[in-house]
Amino acid sequence: MMLPGGRLVSLRERSRYVLLSNVVEVNGRRYIRPAPTTYEHQWLWDSCFHAIVNLHLDPELSRAELRSLLSLQFQEGPDAGMVPHMGYYDGTGTALWGRPYTSTITQPPIIADAVLLTYQTTGDLVFVKEILPGLKAYYDWLARRRDPDGDHLVSLIHPWESGWDSSPRWDHYTGIDHRDSEALKRWRHDLVARIAAHRWDVAAIADAGLYTPVAIDYNCLYAANLESLAKLLTAAGCCDQATQYGERAEAVRQAINAKMWDESVGYYWDLVDGRREKQIKVLTPAGFMALYGGVASPEQAETLVRLLTDPAHFWTSFPVPSVAISEPTYRPSVYWRGNVWPSINWLIIRGLERYGYTDLATAMATRFVNLVCTHGFREYFHPETGEGYGPVRQSWATLALDLELASRRGDEPKYAR
Ligand code: GLC
Repeated sequence: MMLPGGRLVSLRERSRYVLLSNVVEVNGRRYIRPAPTTYEHQWLWDSCFHAIVNLHLDPELSRAELRSLLSLQFQEGPDAGMVPHMGYYDGTGTALWGRPYTSTITQPPIIADAVLLTYQTTGDLVFVKEILPGLKAYYDWLARRRDPDGDHLVSLIHPWESGWDSSPRWDHYTGIDHRDSEALKRWRHDLVARIAAHRWDVAAIADAGLYTPVAIDYNCLYAANLESLAKLLTAAGCCDQATQYGERAEAVRQAINAKMWDESVGYYWDLVDGRREKQIKVLTPAGFMALYGGVASPEQAETLVRLLTDPAHFWTSFPVPSVAISEPTYRPSVYWRGNVWPSINWLIIRGLERYGYTDLATAMATRFVNLVCTHGFREYFHPETGEGYGPVRQSWATLALDLELASRRGDEPKYAR
C-alpha cells in the first residue's frame, strides 16, 4: 500500500474530520454516529470500527465510544447481557421497539476485538478490567439465548442483526421480490413486532417459521471474539476463565466446519430452516469470514482465496462485492445486493493477514484505500465504477486509514501506557 506522504496526511486529516464531525455527546455518553442525518444514533458494530480507527487518532475517544456502547447493555430480564444493535440518543425508539433508548436485537459481536485492539495499542489494563464483566455477560448471553440446541452456533432473529440488512442471503425468509424494496422494508419492520410477541425466544421464533438463520459470518466473528475475550482474560490474570472462553471459541470453529462447510463447492454457507439446519447456497463474501475467525484449515483457506480472487465471482475493479457477480441476484447499485462495504472489506483483509496472505491483503487494501480517497467517505460503493452511495461523511469509511496505517505499524507513535 503505502500512499505517498501527502496523500497519507490528507487521508488522516479527512478521516479525523469525518469522525470528529460525527461525535455525539449526550447523557454522559460520547460516541460517533455512523453518518449525519441518516444515522444519528449509536450502532454496535459501527462503533467498534470507529473505536479501532480512533486508536490512530484519539484513543481516549475509542475508550469513550466502547464505554458508551456497553452502557446500553441490558441489565435484567431473560436478555440480561445483550448489547443492543442501536442506542437512541433522544429516546425515540419506542414506536419501533417498545422502549425509548435501545433496540431489542443485537449486531455482529465484534466488541471483544475492539477492546483487545484498544488494549494492545494503549496497554490500558484498567480499562480492560472495567469492561470485562460486561463483555463476558454479552458473550454468555449469546450462548444462553441464541444457541437453544447447544451446538455452539448462534442464530439471528432479525436481518438487522447480521448488519447485512437486505442481502439476498435472507430472500429465503422474506419471499419478496428484491425489486420491491418498500415491501422488504415493511417486512423488516413487521418482524420486530413478531419477534417481540415471541419474547425474543429463538426456539419459539424458529417454531413459528420466522427468520432464525445460523449466519456464517456472524458465527465466525463470534469465534474470533471468544478468542479475543480469552486473551483479555489472560491479560487480566484470569487464566482459568481464559481457558474456558478459548475452548468455547474452538467449539464454535469445529461446529462451523461440521455443519457449514460444503466440500463440493469449497465454501461455507448459512444454515436456514430452524432445527433442520439446511445449507443455503447464495454466494456472498460472508463465507470469507472463516479467515477472520480462524475457522478454515490452510487447505480450506486456499480454496477460499481462489474464489475471492476469481474475476467471475468476487475480484472486481474494487473488491469485494457483497454478492458475487455470478449470482442472479447481483445488483451492484442496490443496498446490500452487490456493493462494496467498508466493514466487510476490513474483516476480509484482516482475515487474509491472519492466514499469511500478506500480498493479497495489501492488494485488496490498496484498492479500497484508493476507492475511499477517490470517491469519498461513503457508506457503500459500486464494485466496478467505484461510485459512492448512501450518506457522505460515513464514519466507517475511515477504516481506510486503519488499513493504510497497518503497513506502517512500526512507524506509528506508541501511545502512553
Ligand atoms: C445500515 C447497515 C448496518 C449499519 C447501519 C449503520 O443499517 O446495513 O450494517 O450498522 O446502517 O451504519
